Amino acid sequence: MPYSFDDFCSDGRAALAADQGAEGRESIRVALERLLLDTDFIAQHLGSDAPEGMYPIYQDPEYGFMVLTYKMPEPRTSPPHDHGDSWAIYGQVSKHTDMTVWQHVDSNGEKLEAVRSYRLNPGMAGVYHPGDIHSIDYPAGSTFVRVTGTDLSKVARKVFDPETEAVKVVQSVGTGNKN
Ligand SMILES: [Fe+2]
Repeated sequence: MPYSFDDFCSDGRAALAADQGAEGRESIRVALERLLLDTDFIAQHLGSDAPEGMYPIYQDPEYGFMVLTYKMPEPRTSPPHDHGDSWAIYGQVSKHTDMTVWQHVDSNGEKLEAVRSYRLNPGMAGVYHPGDIHSIDYPAGSTFVRVTGTDLSKVARKVFDPETEAVKVVQSVGTGNKN
């Protein structure tokens, strides 16, 4: 039997039952890379016949983690932002996503610099840990699966502008699931 979406969800629960820290998230990241090989799952949610847009397809009743699919017709560069205490794991299906982690470079201000950047190509999954200030950048036609620690549409997030060093706190409803 190929690795299925049900297998992924039960492996996600098992990973969080064993460890709700970085180790558990790494287990989910590895499991997500297995799920990306499930051609039936990918065809159903992100194939040529699948509708464009972002769709939440699962929320775990016990641990609250969510799985969302993204088939994005337009390119997007998100501003650096955080999601409070939640984590997010991205699994690339087609095209690519550039992942960047930022950090403050001064103790009292909001000036940011990029400290780590890498490209997710198809079949690869990458993680943002809780509190990571991060941004994503993908071209038109990018498709990916995102797993989040909770429903991010209910989490207020800080959004940063590295040019002006301005920070604003926004409620994510309506837009938060884009990145
Ligand atoms: Fe994000």
